[in-house]
Amino acid sequence: MVVHVFDQASQVAEAAAAVFTAQLLEKPDSVLGLATGSTPVDTYAELIRLHEHGVLDFSRATSFNLDEYVGLPPSHPESYIAFMKRNLFDRINLKRSYLPNGMAGDLERECLNYEALIREAGGVDLQLLGIGNNGHIGFNEPGESFVFDTNLTALTPSTIHANRRFFDSEEQVPRQALSMGIGTILQARHILLLALGQGKAEVVKGMVEGSITPQVPASILRGHPRVTVLLDRAAASLLS
Ligand code: PGA
Repeated sequence: MVVHVFDQASQVAEAAAAVFTAQLLEKPDSVLGLATGSTPVDTYAELIRLHEHGVLDFSRATSFNLDEYVGLPPSHPESYIAFMKRNLFDRINLKRSYLPNGMAGDLERECLNYEALIREAGGVDLQLLGIGNNGHIGFNEPGESFVFDTNLTALTPSTIHANRRFFDSEEQVPRQALSMGIGTILQARHILLLALGQGKAEVVKGMVEGSITPQVPASILRGHPRVTVLLDRAAASLLS
């Protein structure tokens, strides 16, 4: 794991966008793994800026998002497909973007299909990740064991509580999601994890310096050969 600490969140976004830029210059038909949440919003804004300036061309790239809520229609503003359109897809020239379909009639089959789609695309070249306060990546929640494939998962109370800010009430936060599994994520050739703010300091310390355990799902990234972690000072404040 290579860890970089920046004074400001804006520098994290610029550095993350630089990693995407290097990836797309090197391989214009890259498969990009994308994430939702507050953390990547400024990075996406930077990618849009670079696209508008003619630096970044997404026309040959493909993207796969980490996860999607179960039961929220795409028209719901807090569905992850709506989030991605608003924060990125509507403003760049990416032609092929995929998210798991949380409205699928057969959710188990949808997970298998999603996994197959990623494989057929050649696997993810660069996977962007945030990290949950509880150490989740995607919606791989803390538990007794790691779940490797794309799966139907129940959100933990801490995630429901953390995501409540996007909804009118906690009751409205979906209880389930489809998520790339830990194995799906680990198969990405390069992983770029971002964390911002004091609220993430403890879990970042657990990921970087604690034991590798399914209780802190992100800790398993330490076994991956190419992980770049970009932190602001606050998120890095408990690292020794
Ligand atoms: P956040 O979420 O970026 O909104 O903090 C990160 C995550 O839950 O993975």
